[in-house]
Amino acid sequence: MSDNYCNAELVLNPSPSEPFSSILNARLSRRGFMQASVATAMVTGMSASLTACGSGVGAGSLGFTAVPLSTEDKVIVPPGYRADVVYAWGDPIGSLKGMPAFKDDASNTVAEQELQAGMHHDGMWFFPYPYGSQSSERGLLAMNHEYVDDGLLHPDGTENWSAAKVRKAQAAVGVSIVEVQNRGGRWQVVQSRFARRITAYTPMDIAGPAAGHASMQTNADPSGREVLGTFSNCANGYTPWGTYLTCEENWQDQFVSANPNANEKRYGITPKGAGYNWHLHDKRFDAAVEPNEANRFGWVVEIDPFDPSSRPVKRTALGRMGHEGATVTLAADGRAVVYMGDDKRFEYIYKFVSRNAYNPNDRAANMGLLDEGTLYVARFNADGTGQWIELSHGKNGLTAANGFADQADVVIRARAAGDKVGATPMDRPEWVTVDPRTKEVYCTLTNNSERGKEGKPGVDAANPRKGNLFGQIIRWREDGDSHALSFKWDLFVQAGNPALADANLKGNIKGDAFGSPDGLWVDPSGLLWIQTDVSTSTLNAKEYAGMGNNQMLVADTKSGEIRRFLTGPKGCEITGITATPDMKTLFINIQHPGEPASERSDPKNPKAVSSWPSGGRPRSATVVIRRNDGGVIGT
Ligand code: FEO
Ligand code: CA
Ligand code: CA
Repeated sequence: MSDNYCNAELVLNPSPSEPFSSILNARLSRRGFMQASVATAMVTGMSASLTACGSGVGAGSLGFTAVPLSTEDKVIVPPGYRADVVYAWGDPIGSLKGMPAFKDDASNTVAEQELQAGMHHDGMWFFPYPYGSQSSERGLLAMNHEYVDDGLLHPDGTENWSAAKVRKAQAAVGVSIVEVQNRGGRWQVVQSRFARRITAYTPMDIAGPAAGHASMQTNADPSGREVLGTFSNCANGYTPWGTYLTCEENWQDQFVSANPNANEKRYGITPKGAGYNWHLHDKRFDAAVEPNEANRFGWVVEIDPFDPSSRPVKRTALGRMGHEGATVTLAADGRAVVYMGDDKRFEYIYKFVSRNAYNPNDRAANMGLLDEGTLYVARFNADGTGQWIELSHGKNGLTAANGFADQADVVIRARAAGDKVGATPMDRPEWVTVDPRTKEVYCTLTNNSERGKEGKPGVDAANPRKGNLFGQIIRWREDGDSHALSFKWDLFVQAGNPALADANLKGNIKGDAFGSPDGLWVDPSGLLWIQTDVSTSTLNAKEYAGMGNNQMLVADTKSGEIRRFLTGPKGCEITGITATPDMKTLFINIQHPGEPASERSDPKNPKAVSSWPSGGRPRSATVVIRRNDGGVIGT
């Protein structure tokens, strides 16, 4: 999601007094960090061990020709590859005659939008079909539609604002589940009983420690166990039991509160919201009418794509935040471990460990696995070690005496809990991915121009650059299995513009230039795919001059080499990545092509920036990437 419009860059964490940035902060120059890293390596062997574990298992090597930076209004992939649009905003979720076709004048009705792809595609996952198979020819594609551009969604944009416009916006967000098949070498969305849209008003359940709590009850739902809809669905996850996890990120933008209380402020709810104006026609988004409705957003939502009648479930044990993604891995004993970033400046990285173990023979039992377990938040120490600090009521100061009533209160106010226990404020944690071969974990810290500014947290070892414009990718290895309580970490790469002289801006990329890493995925061969989201306003910053449109790159984690694989059309970000099991088909999403600097399109001139992909108004879309020779992507 772009930044200005959605308030993603607001600073909401009022507690800059974290333990170790104060130790390091201003006196830790980049040179100082290098010295600290060397010292750390000498003391703990951390850098050496992480480098060694990267080289201990051979990653797939990069086997494609890099593409240059681009400002063209198209998707560019390496020679020998092709990229085809398979599912754009407004495309019907099935192929039956009579399904509503996209109308380029934005005149599709609410009822039509409910049967069409939403706007602003984001995280997604390919589930081979049938369930449990390794099919690389047929599967269910579940994907997020993060938010809307009202300037493109309605013929007259935000003029004549109405309940119908709010309803159409609510129908254009949420999740799509579509069936895709490779028919004669061309992937397409097919008619399917699994095809489904989940919107901002689809009924869903609330489970876990916050379910039923007084803070979750509303006039419409006195039980506190049923909520309408999910939105601001950014990155994602998937489980070994074949469910999709969609993550609510900038949900605060749709709410308004005339006099925000401490909880509302900590989550960025403001008197005016971010301009979506849902509250004008749907009173649950006005805190004066429904003070608890906002507590029912900011969760990870689990969806069973294989059961179209199933209700999505908000899994509150995973905490409430600006969820970017939820990346699941299994510990050797079968417990599910979920890594999660909270994408705001100076927010935290979290981990959840399930109480019970995954049972490969009992899918129904696995459906409750994410309701019981322990939530942790990360502290990154200057010496290259780190701790997972437990966020359980009664522990680590999370007591009634300190204002935490019970575990429901802890998960609903997870950010406040993280503040209390001394978690490390990070440079906007976005996606997390786990190398399936080594269990090393990578997380994008996209940027943080407020780092080190007066009154804000200073630099620290994990977030070492003042006014960080380009971001970094942090990597850690648990001390033991994935459920361990401590880890060793290092910085895999600091992004930057190598054309700049300032060492703080240059970065240390071995290979092609990029900034603001966001989407991240280690593929089965160990290649690390990196997608960028430089916001439209930042693209115009002088430090980003010459860096072109947003892009996708691939890193060889063994050598550290990073090579550019794809560039996107004008005004887009690249986000969302998944592949067929044979790695011969890659799916990625192009979000908000044509986004202007104001971050809302002019309805009178919708093609002002881009007309990708079809020559009409710009449309977010899923793109299928294949090699002309049918080979494995990226190698
Ligand atoms: Fe929706 Fe943090 O990106
Ligand atoms: Ca993102
Ligand atoms: Ca982003």
